[in-house]
Amino acid sequence: MRASQYEPFITDKKEWISDKYFTQQRLAGVNPMSLRRVTFHGASEEPIGLDWDKLKELLNPNFDWETAVQKVLGNGDSIAEAIIQGRVYALRYELCDDLPREPDLTDSDPRRTMWDTLSPIALFVSAPDFLTKQNKLVPVAIQMDYTPDSVVFTPEDEGNWMMAKLNVQVTDLAYAQIVEHLAKVHFLMEPFCVILRRTLSPRHPLYQILQHHCRDVLIPNTIGAPVLVGEGEYMDQLFAFGTVGTNRLLNDAHPLSTWNVTDFRKELKKRGVDDKDLLPYFPYRDDGEKILEVIENLVKEYVDLYYYDNQDVKNDKEFCNYLNELSTDGTFFFHGRIGKIQGLPPKISTKEELCDIVTRIISQLSLQHATVNYPLSDYAEYTPNLPTKLYNDTRLKEGEFSVLRLPNRNTSVVEASFSNSLALYRFDTLFDYGNNLEDIKAVNLINEYYSYLMYNVQPKMQEVNEERKERGDLTYPYLIPRWIPNGIQT
Ligand SMILES: [Fe+2]
Repeated sequence: MRASQYEPFITDKKEWISDKYFTQQRLAGVNPMSLRRVTFHGASEEPIGLDWDKLKELLNPNFDWETAVQKVLGNGDSIAEAIIQGRVYALRYELCDDLPREPDLTDSDPRRTMWDTLSPIALFVSAPDFLTKQNKLVPVAIQMDYTPDSVVFTPEDEGNWMMAKLNVQVTDLAYAQIVEHLAKVHFLMEPFCVILRRTLSPRHPLYQILQHHCRDVLIPNTIGAPVLVGEGEYMDQLFAFGTVGTNRLLNDAHPLSTWNVTDFRKELKKRGVDDKDLLPYFPYRDDGEKILEVIENLVKEYVDLYYYDNQDVKNDKEFCNYLNELSTDGTFFFHGRIGKIQGLPPKISTKEELCDIVTRIISQLSLQHATVNYPLSDYAEYTPNLPTKLYNDTRLKEGEFSVLRLPNRNTSVVEASFSNSLALYRFDTLFDYGNNLEDIKAVNLINEYYSYLMYNVQPKMQEVNEERKERGDLTYPYLIPRWIPNGIQT
């Protein structure tokens, strides 16, 4: 099953990586999680986005960043002024610095030399668009790697600019799949589903619903992960950093994969991408908010069915044990092991806290997994849009772009197989399980919400996507209710 067949870069091969669609893929593609606003952190206790003073230390001092930003903004404002206005945004993949290089397993042509996987820095500004009278994100420049001696290209650099954009695409895809998808969703959520079975009775009202969101999560983690990260497997074949780099990324992502990442709104705020005037086009943020609201309301009504007051939460020994076993701050200690989830409260005492936890478990397993998993079949299946390796080729001059820079057919087939096996299978649909519940009150409530999603939320979201398509923007069907499964199957 495929959510979208009509993205411009699929039907119009000339547009496949135009500046517009390259930029919109930061907000609607396989990874809407990495763009951050550039700010001045100063002594702020809760800093937002990326600190300009720190970022500047990595930027090539021989490139005129000031002029490049002014040129796009066209209003004479300096970078500092633009940063204060919240207009400067960047991609910076700290975890991808100095990734190792493994042998090229899929291309042995002696004329071709695979690039290392680099850690590019891309700068964008939110500039006023005189046609639409709205702000629009526009690319300014891309530095090819994270060290100050790395070369910088701008949209005026033709072949080199194309390669700079593809360099970002390669790193962004790798980062998104290992860190945002595997570590922060698959691996983070596994303990929630395993410990659920150990601590809650199958008749517990929360078990009754969570079992449907937890269904099969162990299968992709147990059978799928080795096929992805095992020696000679997908990551070894697809990316220059191979299995060794993948394992390093996973290790480095582990401390970042905490309970905090499940807080959808706070994460957007922390990245500084929550401002709808400065970033009016951000489908993941806007569609995700709609789905999150439905999950929140359902959970609140469901909890109200079974918990009369806060005392009922305190008296729920099974759920107390659940949190205690999960949290690194709990007292659970078994065979030298403690809980795995950092930042999760080991105990709670109010219904509000209970609702927050259940909402975040469900949204991470459904909304967030759909976000990082399903766009792959549209975006990554088309190798020229999201290649996994780039090449120097003796048939090309320096700075010249042609298809010879892209992975060969062999690699492209592996990439298509990888993206389709992850993103073409949906087992079920969010909140479709009402009739499987035992309590008639629960049956009615979940069915009511399922109908609301299908007959109220869905048509509105389809309309919004139609408008996106008519405007010539990338659509974002991945969070339309029928395309969101309850949990993780791939
Ligand atoms: Fe997945």
